[in-house]
Amino acid sequence: MVGAHRNIGSFIIRDMVDAARSSGAIPTLPPGPKGSFLTGNLSEYVPDQLGFLTRTAKKYGDVVRLRFLNVPLYLLNHPDHVEYVLVKNNRNFIKDRAERSGLRFLGQGLLTSEGDHWRRQRRLAQPAFHRQRISAYGRTMVESAERMLDLSWRDGETREVQEDMSRLTLEIVSNTLFGAAITENLEEEVADALGVVMERFTGGILFKVPEGIPTPANLRFRRAIRRLEEIIYGIIRERRRRAPDEETGDLLSMLLAVRDEATGEGMSDGQLRDEVLTIFLAGHETTALNLSWTWHLLAGHTGVEARLHDELRETLGGRAPTMADLPGLRYANAVVKESTRLYPPVWGFGREALQDCEIGDFRVPKGTQVVVSPWVMHRDERYFENPETFRPERWLDGSTDVLPKYAYFPFGGGPRLCIGSGFAKMEAVLLLATIAQRFRLRHAPGQETVEPLPSLTLRPRNGLRMVLAERG
Ligand code: HEM
Repeated sequence: MVGAHRNIGSFIIRDMVDAARSSGAIPTLPPGPKGSFLTGNLSEYVPDQLGFLTRTAKKYGDVVRLRFLNVPLYLLNHPDHVEYVLVKNNRNFIKDRAERSGLRFLGQGLLTSEGDHWRRQRRLAQPAFHRQRISAYGRTMVESAERMLDLSWRDGETREVQEDMSRLTLEIVSNTLFGAAITENLEEEVADALGVVMERFTGGILFKVPEGIPTPANLRFRRAIRRLEEIIYGIIRERRRRAPDEETGDLLSMLLAVRDEATGEGMSDGQLRDEVLTIFLAGHETTALNLSWTWHLLAGHTGVEARLHDELRETLGGRAPTMADLPGLRYANAVVKESTRLYPPVWGFGREALQDCEIGDFRVPKGTQVVVSPWVMHRDERYFENPETFRPERWLDGSTDVLPKYAYFPFGGGPRLCIGSGFAKMEAVLLLATIAQRFRLRHAPGQETVEPLPSLTLRPRNGLRMVLAERG
């Protein structure tokens, strides 16, 4: 593996663990920063979540013990440990406590449900995300991007690019979910309501005032959810009335048409509400951020941008990309992959152990919260040479061919792998190709440094103001 050295502190701690082990005294508790008696590691974590996790991983190794107030939490920093939790022993883990309480409003949707209910819903929803099925959405994606460029983007203009990407990916997820059923007015309302919902997670998912307490922010949040529900139920009702089993080719029609093989039953309105809200939420901000970070990186790496432009010229020669072009857009694909490595939109997520188990050399008691972080792992120099460098070539020159599977896991893994990963990858390359053919983006003066803000997703802290230059 490349660059295996870590800092001296980590060697000393590893040596101590090894020494204890060889003397027969297997440590039961993983090492970790001590923190304060009352709050544990919170005071260091809260002001700098990404930095703190990265530093502690470097210092303490592959399993780090942390504590937030009275909740112990293990941070796992080895691909084998990630695989153990997400794949090999996945049945021993459910979603972590923070996600269970923070995302309760998603009900029993795919992201938040567990056990048999989740398994059934996943089986029912899976065909809607099948490769052939999603490839039909490619045209919608490109046409939506072209419409945005034609109607809103002007040469020399300064724009809030993250907002533009967010509107664009929302339009795409709405069109692919609901087809023509969602009018522009409704889309505007959905965008506003989803904005309010996401606001709740600024600063992360931990320690939110419970939804039931009527603070002004909570009331706003509840109103937004109610409005989203009204819109979703309205569309479902209309669809059921018109043609209960008609397949219009959009995701909703597929979800309406699916029948459980064993029982012959379809999804109830409540289940559809949960799935649709989940897909709205999981399927638009993540991809918008993926693209936003890509524009940020390209603006700071003009050599990469030039190579991308060369590929677009050779492969497309100015015409709009189609699904058939995707295999030829190898460099564009590597650019997206590398951008997703450095700025994984889902920067960390967790599980709770149902029963005692062992991870690495440590006993993990039932109830422990375990956290895995693509942000931390993707910057580990054991796996990525010069990890802070944006170098799409690493995905083309063979240097990443030997990576352990879970050294790179922006979409999670195992049975709960992101159901939209194929959709998202296709969307990112098609939108990148469509937009980069026509515009070059540069940071607005003084806005070159863009700090990541870890919320539920990884956002640019102060947005992303960029100047557009139309390409000749
Ligand atoms: C770059 C874009 C995206 C990223 C980085 C991403 C990342 C993830 C990750 C890491 C998970 C697993 C979480 C866990 O195991 O706890 C996940 C789950 C999920 N994602 Fe995505 N996602 C993206 C786009 C999408 C899109 C476009 C959709 C839908 C259209 C979507 C829908 C979902 C759903 C429904 C789940 C839950 C799956 C299950 O548990 O069965 N995601 N996503």
